[in-house]
Amino acid sequence: MTDARDFFGYRDPDDEPGQRPEETADEELAPPQIEDAVTLDDLAVISRIDPGDMLGRVQRLPGQLAEARRVVAAAKLPESHRDVDGVLVLAMGGSAIGAELVAGIAGDRLRVPLTVHRDYGLPAWAGKRTLVIAVSHSGETVETLSGVDEARRRGLPLVVASTGGRLGADAVADRTPYLQYRATGQPRAAIGFGLGLVHELLSRLELLTDPDPLGPAVEALDAVLGRNAPSVETEASVAKQLAWSIYGRIPAVYGAGIMLPVAHRWKTQFNENAKAWAMFEPMPEANHNAIEGSLNPRELSDALYVVELRDPNEPAEIADRYAVVNELLGERATNRSVVWAEGPSPLARVLTAVALGDLVSVYLAILYQTDPTPVTLLAMLKQRLARSTD
Ligand code: F6R
Repeated sequence: MTDARDFFGYRDPDDEPGQRPEETADEELAPPQIEDAVTLDDLAVISRIDPGDMLGRVQRLPGQLAEARRVVAAAKLPESHRDVDGVLVLAMGGSAIGAELVAGIAGDRLRVPLTVHRDYGLPAWAGKRTLVIAVSHSGETVETLSGVDEARRRGLPLVVASTGGRLGADAVADRTPYLQYRATGQPRAAIGFGLGLVHELLSRLELLTDPDPLGPAVEALDAVLGRNAPSVETEASVAKQLAWSIYGRIPAVYGAGIMLPVAHRWKTQFNENAKAWAMFEPMPEANHNAIEGSLNPRELSDALYVVELRDPNEPAEIADRYAVVNELLGERATNRSVVWAEGPSPLARVLTAVALGDLVSVYLAILYQTDPTPVTLLAMLKQRLARSTD
């Protein structure tokens, strides 16, 4: 019998498949105990568990946004790229979420539909009037590269964004407009580029009209980052307090409207930084299914932690729904927190909520005493896939 542990390579490959070593079985399955956790208020402990400085990288988000703006301003773009009926972003994981956030931020200010394609190839509908934007931090992501190859075959207008890799090299070779940026570290930590490059590019091509100004958004972002910086004690830090609440539980992050892609970001950051299970739920859709799914298994009723990401400008009908949902969850004593985004514009509110979630996910990693930076399983998966297709 093969289980997920074999598939993702948790165990020594010499182990007999499906057999967990007797002496460690209980330990492996047991949830982390509160006394095993570490404090979040000792900077030396934090930097020992986070040697790649993922916390510092979250703090660099404002700088990335400013740099993304400069990269787009300097790019040479053909006039024809403005004259399109749709935008298709090809990207995966940490490189894809930026465009999803932009779709939320832009809302009805987008002149044409924006679709994020997280798969191999291209959708059949992509035609000559579809602007394809391929975003890959490494420039080596096979799904994205296969879509780009197909876009070239179909002769579609194309822009690529990357730090280099094959995506960058091919763009240079065939003179595709190339938004090259410099960022060391993990793709998901370059969210300021993933979001900023797409936002600025669509603004420059006038496909996004009346874009939110960056300055006030960065001010709001700086405020949230400052209030939740590693040096701020747990007592005063919402991010640290949330990490403690979620510790030992599975977070389920709810979002509506512009907060839905942010909820998705929180979920993926819990996965990749804290190496933890997490889910996200779209509102109001969740009221038609997820609301019912909170009963079983009964013995796990304390195992979930609901985070509601709220936009102070959300429509009244969404606010009404949350009021009723909270009434119902309250009656069932479900663990939950409400997190309000901050800032004067959709861009600001999305950025502040993303930054807070990023910090919570890294603080959670620290509580689990897990280095947030490496994504060992993801890297192994990519390696094994590459080997099997050689
Ligand atoms: C790792 C991360 C991943 C990658 C994804 C695609 O930090 O965020 O989700 O973003 O595997 O790789 P890139 O971004 O290089 O195209």
